Amino acid sequence: MHIGVLTGGGDCPGLNAVIRAIVRKGVSVYGHEFSGFRDGWRGPVEGDARPLGIAQVRGILPRGGTILGSSRTNPYKVENGVDRIRENLEKLGVEALIAIGGEDTLGVAKKLTDEGIPVIGVPKTIDNDLGATDYTFGFDTAVTVAVEAIDRLHTTAESHHRALVVEVMGRHAGWIALHSGLAGGANVILVPEMPFDLDDVIKHVESRFATQYAPILVVAEGATPKEGAEVLKSGDLDAFGHVRLGGIGQWLAERIEERTGKESRAVVLGHVQRGGSPTPFDRVLATRFGLHAIDAAHERDWGRMVALQGTDIVRVPIEEATRELKTVPLSRYAEAEVFFG
Ligand code: F6P
Repeated sequence: MHIGVLTGGGDCPGLNAVIRAIVRKGVSVYGHEFSGFRDGWRGPVEGDARPLGIAQVRGILPRGGTILGSSRTNPYKVENGVDRIRENLEKLGVEALIAIGGEDTLGVAKKLTDEGIPVIGVPKTIDNDLGATDYTFGFDTAVTVAVEAIDRLHTTAESHHRALVVEVMGRHAGWIALHSGLAGGANVILVPEMPFDLDDVIKHVESRFATQYAPILVVAEGATPKEGAEVLKSGDLDAFGHVRLGGIGQWLAERIEERTGKESRAVVLGHVQRGGSPTPFDRVLATRFGLHAIDAAHERDWGRMVALQGTDIVRVPIEEATRELKTVPLSRYAEAEVFFG
C-alpha cells in the first residue's frame, strides 16, 4: 500500500520518532511505500509530498520538531479543500493517510474518514488534553523543560527576595502547570480549570516571604482570575478558531508587586517548552504509537486512533480523542494545594 504521512498543528517533541517508527516497520515488515506530506493538511491540499523511505528517517529519533513541517491549515476553510485532497491523493497514488496531530488535525482526520478518505490518527500535543489516551508524547518533554527552568528560578528568586511567576503553555488545560509546578516545588499553581482568587494568591505569596523563602508561582497561560477573563496575546483567531493565549504571568506579577510591595518578575517559557529533543519517555511513547499506527493502517482499520491506556497501546475511534477536552480533575488540583503558601 502507498501511505501518506503528515504532522499538523503545533510542533511537538516526538513527532520524528513516530514518523521513523511508521516508516521502519511499514517498509521492513509490511513492504509498504510512503510519501511525506509537507506542513500538515497543506500538503495534501496542495499535493506537496516527497518520498519517505528508511534513508529519510535515519537519525531522526532524538530530533525535535518534525522533518515534514507543520501548519494549522484547515482544509475545510480552503475552497474545495476536500476535493483537492482527494484529487492529489489519486494523482500521487496515495491510498491512505496517517495523520499525527492534536484536536484540530484529528478533527479533520475524522471528517475525512467519514467522507471516504481512509485515515489513521496518532494523538500529539504537549498540552496532554486529548481524550481516550492517558498521555500524549511531547507532554513529558514540556514538563521537563519547565521543571529545569523552575529549579533555576528558585535560586534567583531567593537571592533577590523576589516573587517569580512562571507562565507555561497548555491552552485550556492545566496539565503542564500542574505537573511542572508539583515537580518544581511551586508555592502556587494556577490552572484554567480553577479560576483563582487574587486575594488567596497574595496570601500565599506573603506567607512564603514570611518564611524567608521567595515564592515561585506557576501559572498556566489559560488561567483566569475569578473576576475577569482570559488574558489574550491578540484577538486574532487561527484557521481552527483558536485565540492566542498569553500574558497572565505578567498581569499577575504586576498585581503581586502592587499588593505586596515586593519585587516580582514574570518568566514566559513559551515555545522553548515545545523545542528540542524529546525525553526518553516521549521517544518510547511516540515510537510505540508509530508502530501501532502502521499496524492499524496495514489492517485497514480506518477512522481509528492509537492511544495509551495504562501501559497498553490500544485503538479507539478518532472522535474519542476530540469529543471532550481532557482537563485537570479538581481532585488532582486539590492534591497540589497542600504545598501552596
Ligand atoms: O497546543 C500546543 C500549544 O503549544 C499550546 O500550548 C499553545 O497555546 C499553542 O500551541 C501556541 O500556538 P502557536 O505556536 O501557534 O503560537
